Amino acid sequence: GVTPKIAPSMLSSDFANLASEAKRMLDFGADWLHMDIMDGHFVPNLTIGAPVIESLRKHTKAYLDCHLMVTNPIDYVEPLGKVGASGFTFHVEASKENWQELIQKIKSKGMKPGVALKPGTPIEEVYPLVDCENPVEMVLVMTVEPGFGGQKFMPEMMDKVRALRKKYASLDIEVDGGLGPSTIDMAASAGANCIVAGSSVFGAPEPAAVISHMRKSVLE
Ligand code: DX5
Ligand code: ZN
Repeated sequence: GVTPKIAPSMLSSDFANLASEAKRMLDFGADWLHMDIMDGHFVPNLTIGAPVIESLRKHTKAYLDCHLMVTNPIDYVEPLGKVGASGFTFHVEASKENWQELIQKIKSKGMKPGVALKPGTPIEEVYPLVDCENPVEMVLVMTVEPGFGGQKFMPEMMDKVRALRKKYASLDIEVDGGLGPSTIDMAASAGANCIVAGSSVFGAPEPAAVISHMRKSVLE
C-alpha cells in the first residue's frame, strides 16, 4: 500500500536560514523536504542546485525530494547524486528522447526516480515511464504551472491523479502546488499520497497542525 509523505516545499522558506528552516519542518512532523531546482530556462525562475543541496545535507539526514524544473535533467544526475539527493523527479516535457537512460542513471546514483508533468501535459505521456522494465517510482502531478510558490490549486488536475491511482494501486503519486487544508481532501480522495506544500505550511501560525491535518486526510 501507499503511505503518506508530507513534503514542505523549502522554496517558501528563508533560504538564508535553510538548515534551521529544514530542522523546524522536520520537528513539525514533515516526512520529506521538497527541494525545487529551477534553471531559469525550463521555468521563468532560478533557485538552487547541487551546491545548496550539498550544504543542507551536512545538517540533516532527511529525505531530500528534489523536483527538477530544468531543461536538461540528465546534466544534474551526477552532481545531485554525489551530494546526497534522495529523490530525483524530472519533467516529462524535458525528457522526450532520453528518459530510459535518465531513469537508469538516477537509479545507478542511488536516487529514487520520479517523473513530473505540467498542467497542460496529458497523463498518458507518463504511462510509458511507469509501464516499462525500468520504471519511475513516483509520478508528480503539478497542480499549478511550475515556477513559483503561492499559486492557486487547479482541481481539474485531479482527473489525472484518479486515472493514475486506478491504474497503479501502489505507485507513489505526488501533488504540488496550492495544497493546504482547503485543498488536501480533493487531492487525497483522488488518490495522491505524497503532498508538497509551501505557502500553506510556512505561512501558517501552527505549521505542525497543517502537516498533521494533511497526513490524516491522506490516511482516511
Ligand atoms: C512550484 C513548485 C512548488 C511550490 C509549491 O513550481 O514546484 O513546489 O513551491 O508552493 P505552494 O505550496 O505555495 O503552491
Ligand atoms: Zn515542486
